[in-house]
Amino acid sequence: MKDIDWSKLGFHYTEPDYIVRSAYHDGKWEEPYATQDKFLHLHVSATCLQYGQEAFEGLKAFRGVDGKIRIFRWRENARRMAKSAEGLYMAPVPEEIFGKAIHLALEKNMDFVPPYGTGATLYFRPLLIGTTPRLGVGPGRDFEFIVIPSPIGPYYPGKFHCTTFVVNRHVDRAAPFGTGTFKVGGNYASSFRATEPAHAQGMDCLFLDARYHRYIDECSAANFIGIKSKDQIEYLTPRSSAILPSITNDSLMTLAREKGYKVTRRHIRLEELAQMQEAAACGTACVISPIDKVIDPENNKVYSFGAEPGPILTDLYRSLKDIQYGRAEDKHGWCEVIEN
Ligand SMILES: Cc1ncc(COP(=O)(O)O)c(C=O)c1O
Repeated sequence: MKDIDWSKLGFHYTEPDYIVRSAYHDGKWEEPYATQDKFLHLHVSATCLQYGQEAFEGLKAFRGVDGKIRIFRWRENARRMAKSAEGLYMAPVPEEIFGKAIHLALEKNMDFVPPYGTGATLYFRPLLIGTTPRLGVGPGRDFEFIVIPSPIGPYYPGKFHCTTFVVNRHVDRAAPFGTGTFKVGGNYASSFRATEPAHAQGMDCLFLDARYHRYIDECSAANFIGIKSKDQIEYLTPRSSAILPSITNDSLMTLAREKGYKVTRRHIRLEELAQMQEAAACGTACVISPIDKVIDPENNKVYSFGAEPGPILTDLYRSLKDIQYGRAEDKHGWCEVIEN
């Protein structure tokens, strides 16, 4: 194992020994291979640079309580990346190539899988880019698929805590039926002018639907969850044609149903926050990031959920982490256990 102070590792890139690459030419993917070269020899007119033909993914491997490594739901990431590829007119990476590349990246960087108990994980960043040189506007015919592994520190180095979100009506993340359901770089670059000012104030950004600015779309780079717990417990999450289908949200919805909660996916008006007892952002990085307040500056309104994470979301957070770390039964077969 690498000599790294795992619990002090931040939530940023640490250079792995190997990355894995596979190129697509003449309609065929090459066998994924590991390389220590982290640089690309890319034509200046490549379609990823000229027209943004780029998609990516994010998933994690966890060292469990039994010392075994578990890769969480990588097939779902493979499927979502195939949809992103189709969305940008790129060749989808077959699930077999995606799986081989993830497993090879893990095998070649075993020393970077953090030990159990540190909260650190091995993160994989699969990346797909268009490499055909082209100046006339149009898609390329050549692509490169790359898996970049990196150990990352715990999302909550201290205790599980809340974040404040601010509503932004000046910047839209993605248009209805645009690229919001795909995980493509352009969505993120175009959100920076909303998220960076929010981060500078120690907050995060809540995006509304781009057409009416009426319904909740997404929390920065995460899905939104609201909990109503007055009578029956209800787990609410937005339905929208502009948000990324989160694998964490899908897993949490399954767990919520198992706990007997009502699970509803529908349009959620911003003002409905006033009827919720708990709220959070969810995604691979944090699992759940509870929200203490949503500030709506234009309407001079603040929706408050309490300074500490609420009981329902805290329980869901623990339940999913218990599965990822092998502390609870994995009834749905979400983790691929690597015998090492
Ligand atoms: C825009 C956006 N929404 C939601 C998510 C959460 O998705 P997942 O749970 O699959 O990580 C992410 C992170 O991947 C994201 O970037």
